Amino acid sequence: MKIVHAASEMFPYLKTGGLADVTGALCKSLSRFGHDISFFIPGYRKILESPVFSKAKLKVVLQVELGDEFLRGEVYAVPIGKRQTLYIIRCDEFFDRSNPYGSANRDYSDNDRRFIWFCKAIVEAMHVLELKADIFHCHDWQTGLAPLFLRTVEQEHGISLALKTFFSIHNLAFQGLFPSGSFRFTNLPDEFNELDGIEFYEQISMIKGGIFFADKILTVSPNYAKEILTSDFGSGMEGALTVREEDLVGIKNGIDYDVWNPETDAFLPTNYSSKNLAGKKVCRKKLLDTVGLSDTEKPVYGIVCRLTEQKGLDFILKQMSFFVENDCRLVVLGMGDPFYERALKRWAKSHPKIIGVCMVLDEGLSHLVEAGSDFYLMPSIFEPCGLNQMYSQRYGTPPLASDVGGLHDTVVDIRENEETGTGLLFQPELKEFDKALNYSLELFSSNDTMEKIRRNGMLKDFSWTNVVKEYENLYSESL
Ligand code: ADP
Ligand code: GLC
Repeated sequence: MKIVHAASEMFPYLKTGGLADVTGALCKSLSRFGHDISFFIPGYRKILESPVFSKAKLKVVLQVELGDEFLRGEVYAVPIGKRQTLYIIRCDEFFDRSNPYGSANRDYSDNDRRFIWFCKAIVEAMHVLELKADIFHCHDWQTGLAPLFLRTVEQEHGISLALKTFFSIHNLAFQGLFPSGSFRFTNLPDEFNELDGIEFYEQISMIKGGIFFADKILTVSPNYAKEILTSDFGSGMEGALTVREEDLVGIKNGIDYDVWNPETDAFLPTNYSSKNLAGKKVCRKKLLDTVGLSDTEKPVYGIVCRLTEQKGLDFILKQMSFFVENDCRLVVLGMGDPFYERALKRWAKSHPKIIGVCMVLDEGLSHLVEAGSDFYLMPSIFEPCGLNQMYSQRYGTPPLASDVGGLHDTVVDIRENEETGTGLLFQPELKEFDKALNYSLELFSSNDTMEKIRRNGMLKDFSWTNVVKEYENLYSESL
């Protein structure tokens, strides 16, 4: 199949979170299965400065209408492997910035114009380059309006750009909501600024464009696909999603085994496998040294995430005394909400040998945390899929995770199933998190149980090989 993907992030070119890991691995796997993949991404500064851009060739120059002006865009193409082409849409006024979405913890004030323009530019580029896709598949709010623009351009010119359009929701909490006045940048007829269009409580919603106008809506785990139909998890979109329920499908993410493999991982001081876990101890020592923590007989807990409410940071902060009183260690790698950053820094300062906090974006250290910790913490309030709990299982580090979203679909509680258990699941409540932490101390005191639970996790199949078949089936059934 000829498949065009579009998103704001793709590993290894630009990553702020799991979206990048997933688009990168999904496209690579689809291309390995013989499909012809094109991928559209904005020309962010990080990409313009990367080696991939030095190999890219200018393909077309676009003039993209945005309200009452036209803005120039340049489309560069670079082949990746045998069957992938990366299309970088350059518009320096919008994307040549140090961060993709905002700075100093505030969104850029022109994100409406930036991403409405990006959606239009993708469709315009597909038109001019005559890409004619079987499947057009875009991800998250930044590309939410593309399925709608695609159909309007097809109608206007009497052409076909894609047979079927797919829209993936990676996180419904980010919706691309802008004041109603931003609608004019779409140049769409007013009828689209209504309840069955992209209007959302007197604002416009870019994610609603994907929800209403794509042929199929995907999300990143079966459990989250059910949850988002309820008011507890639907972020106000449950009504719109219920209208599209028949076309809503949840496919659990995979993880990239080329990147996340303890047997070959070059970020680790030594490698290890489920047959020989000796190297894991070396990684633990290296992690403690790197973060400046002292050794202990008790468990080391690790967490790598955006420091936001979603990731359960309130639970972590309320449980800090658990780590201190039980002589455990806690390593946090993450950046985000200044409130959480300040609170964590205070704890690290008052307990420098017990609590280590690294507020940087560090791919290598994230691998070391997965490998060197004894348990991985993921007390998320909601979690569309989550990748770290899968990375940690693969690295023999049992996760303690909330029983929500994709965490429910990817972790087996050892208390529920002694034979296949890979971690602990709990309801996202403080007392349940507390119980799980205390239970993990018990688990840790038994070497046999720890060995078993580690191996169970390491032997689980989280590879994209199976996941990609589900995408393939869905794509081909839709044609
Ligand atoms: P989300 O996409 O909601 O942030 P995921 O668990 O799906 O959560 O994916 C997060 C990804 O971002 C993981 O690959 C994780 O390791 C990575 N990550 C988050 N914060 C950092 C950081 N400070 N340094 C390195 N990697 C990070
Ligand atoms: C989002 C979600 C996360 C998911 C990732 C990749 O950022 O918060 O749960 O794993 O997208 O799909």
